[in-house]
Amino acid sequence: MCYYYYIIPLLLVLITISFYFRTPKTRKPGVWIPSNYKWPIPEPYPDWNIHKTNPIPYRAFKHKYNVTMGVQSMDPQDWIQLDNEWVKFHDLKQKRVEEKGKDLYDISPIALDGCIELLKELQIYLPNRYPSLFQATSKGLKNLFNNEDYDFKIHDPMFIIGNLLQDDIAILTEDSNGNYNFTAGSILLAGSWRFKDKFNKSISSIHSDSKVPKYHSNLQNSMNKFFYRLKPESPMVRYNYGFQMDDNLPWAYSSLGDEDSNSGWRFQTGEAKALSIDDIYYRSERQSLRRLPKSGVIVFTIRAYFLPLVEICKEPFVPQRLLNGVLNWDEESKEYKGFEKYKDIVIPYLAKQAELQKNQGFTMENEQLNYPLNSKLKNI
Ligand code: HEM
Repeated sequence: MCYYYYIIPLLLVLITISFYFRTPKTRKPGVWIPSNYKWPIPEPYPDWNIHKTNPIPYRAFKHKYNVTMGVQSMDPQDWIQLDNEWVKFHDLKQKRVEEKGKDLYDISPIALDGCIELLKELQIYLPNRYPSLFQATSKGLKNLFNNEDYDFKIHDPMFIIGNLLQDDIAILTEDSNGNYNFTAGSILLAGSWRFKDKFNKSISSIHSDSKVPKYHSNLQNSMNKFFYRLKPESPMVRYNYGFQMDDNLPWAYSSLGDEDSNSGWRFQTGEAKALSIDDIYYRSERQSLRRLPKSGVIVFTIRAYFLPLVEICKEPFVPQRLLNGVLNWDEESKEYKGFEKYKDIVIPYLAKQAELQKNQGFTMENEQLNYPLNSKLKNI
């Protein structure tokens, strides 16, 4: 008697839970069943200040280098990261849009619902996470720093998003063959690829055309499965790193040549070789992935962290770990990352800094890895 009294409500609870967290394994490609999942409302970022909050010091390189997807779970609170480089990024982005307009952002009709859903997500997330910068209004979002006021019914969603965030954004939609296509985006500061070359293409052809190392052997299958299975409640993040031979965040002209005449692949046209270590910039991207519950589109954010190599080499453990990582690049990755152009400057510099740090005790034995942040000193 008592047993039946409990078992039925328990079964109901289990059925509800399994329905709520159902995996979309059996759904038809291209068909998304809207989910009731709600992204948690974030806490305000502690003491966030547009002038004082430093960029998070990602030092996302390891002693070994492997081409893998390298995705890890993301705390929903951390989805969008803004800091005291917001003004710089915003000004650069506005200049880019003035110069190149819709070459840099666009929306295909198939992605429009997803873009509107994304705006609504940002309307909740941004004022809660960064209350001193954003305010939700009845029509959209207001920027309290520069008084830009966005009306979601009037302004182009990708234009708005480009103005709100430091990140670039790509929206992916799934077609009936299970391909993921890049059907909306605002790509203003990519550094080494152009929105107009990739817009409306599948993720597979984007990565093949870009000659991403080991794409066919190590990445393609896992990425397709990953996208298909990505659930609204399990957002992910990944990081990359590389070097640039000039300080121009939007476009690496020293290695790639002129942005408007470039054929679309890295390191083909730029003739320059790095002459001094002060020419070298470290570029690392934090890329987040989440699926929006209603439309089912995937939102891919790309946030660049960009600073002189000599700056990060002042930090303990950085030179040796970066040196080992770079020396561990396979031939394909070396070519992709333009190694030939800066190796004679970068490798001896890293080796020398690593040696100097060793004398101060920052050896591999004393290093406690803390990826994607810099290592800590081990408590011995
Ligand atoms: C799970 C998701 C993804 C994985 C694992 C992945 C993996 C990679 C890898 C390994 C590279 C080489 C550079 C690096 O190490 O980052 C790369 C480059 C690239 N990815 Fe992805 N990617 C993903 C999602 C996307 C999405 C959604 C887009 C949408 C536009 C995209 C566009 C590109 C482009 C354009 C490049 C070439 C960049 C360049 O050559 O400068 N990727 N990707």
